[in-house]
Amino acid sequence: MIKILLIHGPNLNLLGKREPEYYGTTTLDEINAKMLRIAEENGVELRVFQSNVEGALIDAIHDAANWASGIVINPGAYAHYSYGLRDALAAVNLPTIETHLSNIHAREEFRHKTVISPVVLGCITGLGWRSYECGLRALIDILREQ
Ligand code: DQA
Repeated sequence: MIKILLIHGPNLNLLGKREPEYYGTTTLDEINAKMLRIAEENGVELRVFQSNVEGALIDAIHDAANWASGIVINPGAYAHYSYGLRDALAAVNLPTIETHLSNIHAREEFRHKTVISPVVLGCITGLGWRSYECGLRALIDILREQ
């Protein structure tokens, strides 16, 4: 059975009320419910993890090596500067898709660069909660082909 870890980084627990002009009004619980439904429809096990702590995210990535077939991750602001998170993803070397709700290339310059993108399969940015849907569906397809 395909098993996927969905990771949300810092401040994403505030979705719904956090800067809705960038992130929309859908809450994290609502996004997770949508993704769990897609996983169930596809016969895939999906586990969800959110943390505001860099080390906890790194530990979750390490742990995923013991059970997961792939990862979907919105690293939040860590995308732009966390070499620790990047190295963890490179170390476990699981098929991974990076997602962002907002279009990071259309925002402040510091958001244009992601240190995560070079170590993942691809990055989906700017489609709101659908970035997660596209990432999850694509990862399921890719894992099925393996
Ligand atoms: C984000 C984009 C990041 O720049 C920002 O720091 C976030 C959310 C997004 O989903 O659009 O926390 O990852």
